Amino acid sequence: MRTGKQKILILGANGQVGKELSKRADDFEVNATAFTRTELDITDSQEVARILENLRPHTVINAAAYTAVDDAEKRPEVAYKVNRDAPENLAKICEKLSIPIIHMSTDYVFDGKKSGAYLEGDPVRPLGIYGRSKEAGEAVIRDNTEKYIIFRTSWVYAAHGNNFLRTMMRLANERSELNIVEDQCGVPTCAVDIADALLLISKRITNNTLEPLWGTFHYTSRNPTTWRSFAEEIFKELQNYKMSVPLVNGIPSSQYPTPALRPLNSVLNCDKIERVFSVPRRDWKEGMREVVAQLLTN
Ligand SMILES: NC(=O)c1ccc[n+]([C@@H]2O[C@H](COP(=O)([O-])OP(=O)(O)OC[C@H]3O[C@@H](n4cnc5c(N)ncnc54)[C@H](OP(=O)(O)O)[C@@H]3O)[C@@H](O)[C@H]2O)c1
Repeated sequence: MRTGKQKILILGANGQVGKELSKRADDFEVNATAFTRTELDITDSQEVARILENLRPHTVINAAAYTAVDDAEKRPEVAYKVNRDAPENLAKICEKLSIPIIHMSTDYVFDGKKSGAYLEGDPVRPLGIYGRSKEAGEAVIRDNTEKYIIFRTSWVYAAHGNNFLRTMMRLANERSELNIVEDQCGVPTCAVDIADALLLISKRITNNTLEPLWGTFHYTSRNPTTWRSFAEEIFKELQNYKMSVPLVNGIPSSQYPTPALRPLNSVLNCDKIERVFSVPRRDWKEGMREVVAQLLTN
């Protein structure tokens, strides 16, 4: 267990977002207590209750999840245990102790058939087990506690963990040509920006001067793109570091079959989070450049 100097409980502290939350908490002057999966398994309902009762944080941020989109198709019971059953238990304890919970969710709750950006109230229709288990997790949060923020984001990457940017950086060294899907549209969002948004919201909802607006919120960086353009921009950036990069060919999703279907459009409309919490958002390329720099200079 790592203890900082504030009163927020972070779950899933070893993940992309969880790690950045732990790193950024001091800058927001909050007392952060962060648990990795080995330190606190969120499916252990008794242990979760014991810790919450002892710690009594002002806010819980749940960044723990089963995020293996394709593997979830083969392991639905694990996906549902972590993404639905554990949040249900968490929500019940938070309700009992009157602790607000910020619960992370995903663009993959949508089917991608909408032509514009998705609003928070648009109907959900996930295409795979991961998305369905996350959608079920949202539902149990809404049903079991009043003080909640469901925070949906998309295409997360960081300088650590499993993500598209790190895969592209590895493949840049290994391959001269790559086929990348060009018919899925979304917004890459770096984990550090997400952590800052979560910490800002956490501070706002524990500030007693205003009655917070609970509910579901979308947060991503600005300016939608495709996986193909995401790869091309990463490679352009690598060329600035005099690295050789592969040629990118765009392909349709049909030529890159995966066990789980992905939405063709998962762009999230983020007007509400900007309006309610004044959360800053930047062009995804800015975050991408920072993470590339971090990886190449470390
Ligand atoms: N990644 C994306 O592109 C993306 C997109 C949209 C939304 N999201 C959502 O954003 C949130 C954070 O995602 P992320 O990218 O940071 O995910 P991540 O890197 O996969 O991190 C998730 C963390 O949860 C931990 N975890 C898994 N099962 C657990 C359990 N039973 N008890 C405690 N911890 C457990 C994992 O532990 P281990 O490290 O031990 O495996 C991992 O550290 C999730 O809710 C995810 O659904 C992610």
